[in-house]
Amino acid sequence: MNATLTLVNDQNTVLSYLDEARKHHTQAALAKYLDIDVRTIRRWETRQTPPPAYLAHALQQLLPFGNDSPAGAFDFIDLFAGIGGLRNAFEQVGGRCVYTSEWDSYAQKTYAENFRDRHPIAGDITQVDAADIPDHDVLLAGFPCQPFSIAGVSKKNALGKKHGFACETQGTLFFDVARIIEAKRPRAFLLENVKNLVSHDQGRTFDVIRRTLTHDLGYHIHYRVIDGAHFVPQHRERILIAGFREPVAFDFDALPLPPKGSHTLKDILHRTDGSEPVLQWDEGRFFDHKKKKVQDKYTLTDNLWRYLQNYAEKHRLKGNGFGFGLVKPADVARTLSARYYKDGSEILVYQGTRKNPRRLTPRECARLMGYPDTFRIPVSDTRAYKQFGNSVVVDVMSHVAKLMQPMLEPGILETEAPLRYATR
Ligand SMILES: C[S@@+](CC[C@H](N)C(=O)[O-])C[C@H]1O[C@@H](n2cnc3c(N)ncnc32)[C@H](O)[C@@H]1O
Repeated sequence: MNATLTLVNDQNTVLSYLDEARKHHTQAALAKYLDIDVRTIRRWETRQTPPPAYLAHALQQLLPFGNDSPAGAFDFIDLFAGIGGLRNAFEQVGGRCVYTSEWDSYAQKTYAENFRDRHPIAGDITQVDAADIPDHDVLLAGFPCQPFSIAGVSKKNALGKKHGFACETQGTLFFDVARIIEAKRPRAFLLENVKNLVSHDQGRTFDVIRRTLTHDLGYHIHYRVIDGAHFVPQHRERILIAGFREPVAFDFDALPLPPKGSHTLKDILHRTDGSEPVLQWDEGRFFDHKKKKVQDKYTLTDNLWRYLQNYAEKHRLKGNGFGFGLVKPADVARTLSARYYKDGSEILVYQGTRKNPRRLTPRECARLMGYPDTFRIPVSDTRAYKQFGNSVVVDVMSHVAKLMQPMLEPGILETEAPLRYATR
């Protein structure tokens, strides 16, 4: 992969959004929106310093409704979109989202608040006819990890059947993804799921997925389990499956992975030393800037804290380990789950001996998942915790997107001789 080319492309993307946004907004308005100094905008505009790539989507939101990505970009679709973690990453490398499917109305609300689209958000993907999905270069899907019940089923001839994967579709949304790949033949896809997908049902589930994508659909796939802790202070192991219609020189091992633990929670916790940025869109919801502290509502009640300690003690005596994860700024958190809203037990922030620990605020959860502070949280805390707990570590996805990007733009595959047949 040509790293310099990728970097230039990222900068070009964010710069083109900046220039386009400036046609519609003053420097002062942009500075206010991004919550930065107006001089920074000036330095970007005069190309003294480059704007960071993660601002691409925030800047894109400022463009007239339904604005297209710059020329040379590729088109992608965002399935099981959640709040757009995968989209965020692929926009950073110049992609344009042409279709979205997400059936949860609260996730749709967060998504719509953060991504302005010409296209409406489609609902239940199982009800969508693939012919109604626009052509695209890349398919993105973090399909839900439902219990799979496809052990040992031979996939032979499945594609020849009238309704595609009819024998195996029951409750398995993966086959909706496969159905769409089969019909639309994108040049590439990126699928994301929990690490356990690989070992589920003694590896048979993953085997069916792998064979469906390679043998039945003819794609060249690469997969790797990556821990978010390389980029954010959170252990979050997820499997990524990148597939290409043509054989290409893609190699997950080329991902630059900083050592785990280089990011600790102090990077994402609200700062109480006066340096916490004031985000107008949060309006003091999570952090009290006058008192320089996290809002009291995030501190556990005595009842809940006592319950969690008793519960943990009970399990410790049974030899089951602790039930909660108490963290300090120098730590790396456990995986944020979609059930964090219940008691927050997997990540509790230590607040000294005289105060009960607290939950992370939704803004801290956003940061823990690699979302920039420009990301809007228009739903209740409960919904927000679920949405971030279901999402992806954006930084992991942007690095994967960067790695895939040279193979995504139309024309590249047609003009380059296949370098390596790299199916694993
Ligand atoms: C694991 S989450 C993916 C999150 C996403 N990658 C993100 O970054 O936020 C799976 C999402 O699929 C959605 N979903 C589940 N079944 C669906 C269906 N049949 N049609 C459309 N969306 C569905 C869920 O509501 C959930 O938001």
